[in-house]
Amino acid sequence: MKITVIGTGYVGLVSGTCFAETGVQVVCVDVDEHKIKMLNNGKIPIYEPGLEDIYKRNVEKGRLSFTTDLKSSLENSEAVFIAVGTPPDEDGSADLKYVLGASSEIGKHMDHYIVVATKSTVPVGTSVKVKAAIQKELQKREVEIPFDVASNPEFLKEGSAVQDFLRPDRIIIGTESEQAIKVMKKLYKPFLLNGHPILFMDITSSEMTKYAANSMLATRISFINEIANLCEIVGADIDAVRRGIGSDPRIGNKFLYPGTGYGGSCFPKDVQALIRTANEKGYPLEILKAVESVNNRQKSTLYQKIFNHFGGKLKGLKFAMWGLAFKPKTDDMREAPSLVIIEKLIEAGAEVVAYDPVAMKEAKRILGNKIGYAKDEYDACIDSDGIILVTEWPEFRLPNFRVLERLLKNKIIFDGRNIYDRAELEEMNFTYYPIGRKP
Ligand code: UGA
Repeated sequence: MKITVIGTGYVGLVSGTCFAETGVQVVCVDVDEHKIKMLNNGKIPIYEPGLEDIYKRNVEKGRLSFTTDLKSSLENSEAVFIAVGTPPDEDGSADLKYVLGASSEIGKHMDHYIVVATKSTVPVGTSVKVKAAIQKELQKREVEIPFDVASNPEFLKEGSAVQDFLRPDRIIIGTESEQAIKVMKKLYKPFLLNGHPILFMDITSSEMTKYAANSMLATRISFINEIANLCEIVGADIDAVRRGIGSDPRIGNKFLYPGTGYGGSCFPKDVQALIRTANEKGYPLEILKAVESVNNRQKSTLYQKIFNHFGGKLKGLKFAMWGLAFKPKTDDMREAPSLVIIEKLIEAGAEVVAYDPVAMKEAKRILGNKIGYAKDEYDACIDSDGIILVTEWPEFRLPNFRVLERLLKNKIIFDGRNIYDRAELEEMNFTYYPIGRKP
């Protein structure tokens, strides 16, 4: 069996590589020649645990290849997955130019029946546009070649994308065609040996499922962040409250950790896009509007604590920032809370020296010389007026506080992820500011 995957970003690259792992012949296509050259030279452009190993193995076995030539890749392919970016437009809606561009290209080059499955997160109704774009090209060519479209949203998480793909909770396929169902079943069966389901539904419901899932998760985070902030005010402890509510199986204990707000390339974009769709349909989603504004506010929470501690006098102070990526196990800094905190500190005249185990290169690309870069978390603390922990990398969990004590000018920790024990820190005379715990 042979398939084509268009787009070699997180979703495309992980999907293509993991499909190859089952013995399928996979050709990954991208218009970015530089990226394809890199991939053909053994280098992967993203950081994703476990990906390099299976990429190398499958390239060596000759099952995984990379090209800019869509025409040749489509030859004999039974399915083509569209996994290109959908960046937010200025008005918050998803920009479909890459998805529809890829669809037209498929229409220009296909020469036999093929299933066109959209993996990119696309607004409800996009599959109709994908179908129309392909049909338009076929008409121009004056040929009649059958094809089916399917919606196949992806639920992988950055940092555990490979595991998520190899052992999915569920596979969602939206399609009206029996033939497409057959092809998708064949492709996904090897990943569902754990008994998890493949759910077939209509295309619109499938597209909606993706937005509803991410919006629900974003809602949980904004909810727990608001409760955490209120806990601080009334003198309750969010850790106790989180455990208390999480042990009700209807609520569950996952995704209930307060922090500095959600970031990344998915939640912010998808929440905005669904708000936009709902507005267009004349049914504004009040909950999601609140989720978004709570999240924007939450990104400033740590800064507010720093500001209050120093009575607003931040000029000339220097802070060690631990973690820059929007979450651990990724170098992704898109919509990362660290960026908001850095911007505010610099505006207030403070200096930031940062360390992140994998996002340093990305940070230098985005922030240049706006901040200083340390060689490790201790180096960042030399003569600093406090530590600001933004990303909960495992290696930050048990630092040597005795060493930190000697390096820091001020023994203060602003903990945006609640990873430390207050009693322990206070015993060592550190001042500790977590999120939503008893003052
Ligand atoms: C998210 C979804 O979890 C995936 O299922 C989905 O496939 C993906 O978006 C996508 O649409 O492509 P991802 O953006 O990689 O995945 O990151 P998550 O692990 O979900 O974390 C998102 C944000 O929520 C992070 O900033 C994280 O720190 C924050 N978070 C998460 C919390 O603040 N508290 C929590 O309890 C959990």
